[in-house]
Amino acid sequence: MRHLLDVDDLSPAELRQVLAFGAAPVAPRALEGHGMALLFEKPSARTRNSMEMAVVQLGGHPVTIRPDEVGLDTRETVEDVTRTLCCYHAAIGARVFEHAKLERMVAVSSVPVVNLLSDDAHPLQALADVLTLADELGGVDDLAGRSIAYVGDGNNVARSLALAAGMVGMDVRIATPAGYELSAADLERIRAAGVEPRCTHDPTEAVEGADAVYTDVWASMGQEAEASARREAFAGFTVDAALMVGAAEKAVFLHCLPAHRGEEVSSEVLEGPQSRVWPQAANRMHAARGALAWLMEHR
Ligand code: CP
Ligand code: NVA
Repeated sequence: MRHLLDVDDLSPAELRQVLAFGAAPVAPRALEGHGMALLFEKPSARTRNSMEMAVVQLGGHPVTIRPDEVGLDTRETVEDVTRTLCCYHAAIGARVFEHAKLERMVAVSSVPVVNLLSDDAHPLQALADVLTLADELGGVDDLAGRSIAYVGDGNNVARSLALAAGMVGMDVRIATPAGYELSAADLERIRAAGVEPRCTHDPTEAVEGADAVYTDVWASMGQEAEASARREAFAGFTVDAALMVGAAEKAVFLHCLPAHRGEEVSSEVLEGPQSRVWPQAANRMHAARGALAWLMEHR
């Protein structure tokens, strides 16, 4: 049974298969007559909608569940909820705080489990990011040797992006403030996937000549109480027109969204000609469809 808790659950060759499935014009009816449970402990606009529509495009029926509806670890254990959902569904997706909850699901699940974002990883976002870069730079096979600079918090999005971009051969640079780097465990995991990101505390250095510049919010879901301390710590890390000047002339700007204009990105860059955030959001559905079709084929 294959699961997708982060991009490195796939080999580099499998990652390319998933991306090819996502880019294919005709969707296989891989979920025909089946359901997929989509469980959310955190809010979502893109992930819920792109997943629901991906399931529909594969011929299946999505059932979205809010945490208060099942009472994860309050009304019932994560394991019992998972075993219950396996009675009705061909796959389970979950957006959770602690990544360990996904691992507990995997331990008892008889169907593929897909991470819809945890505190540690956001693999479906990273798949969509690589699809977007491929659309821009000629194709997945043309990404090797191209560069992407992530500027901001060393968070779930940074980890999965480093894995996915690195696994297709991109040069990955990551600029974070001191104290907000990717964890040692994350870096070890990224290196184990054969990716060696260049980490710095200098956004200008990271962005120098880059083909793509990426950022994400400074305070992720669950870190709202830290927002004002983080605004201070991240001073100088806004992706603005002055920072973009150092990137390649045709560089694109990416952001997983939701965005906080004036914090991690200026309005000018987010709305400007280099921004590809809407094609990137659209690719969430194609990436989700590719990942689900691949998982159904490799059960
Ligand atoms: N990028 C992303 O995952 O968006 P949502 O939180 O709206 O799903
Ligand atoms: N790092 C952000 C991503 C949101 C899509 C969060 O976890 O809230």
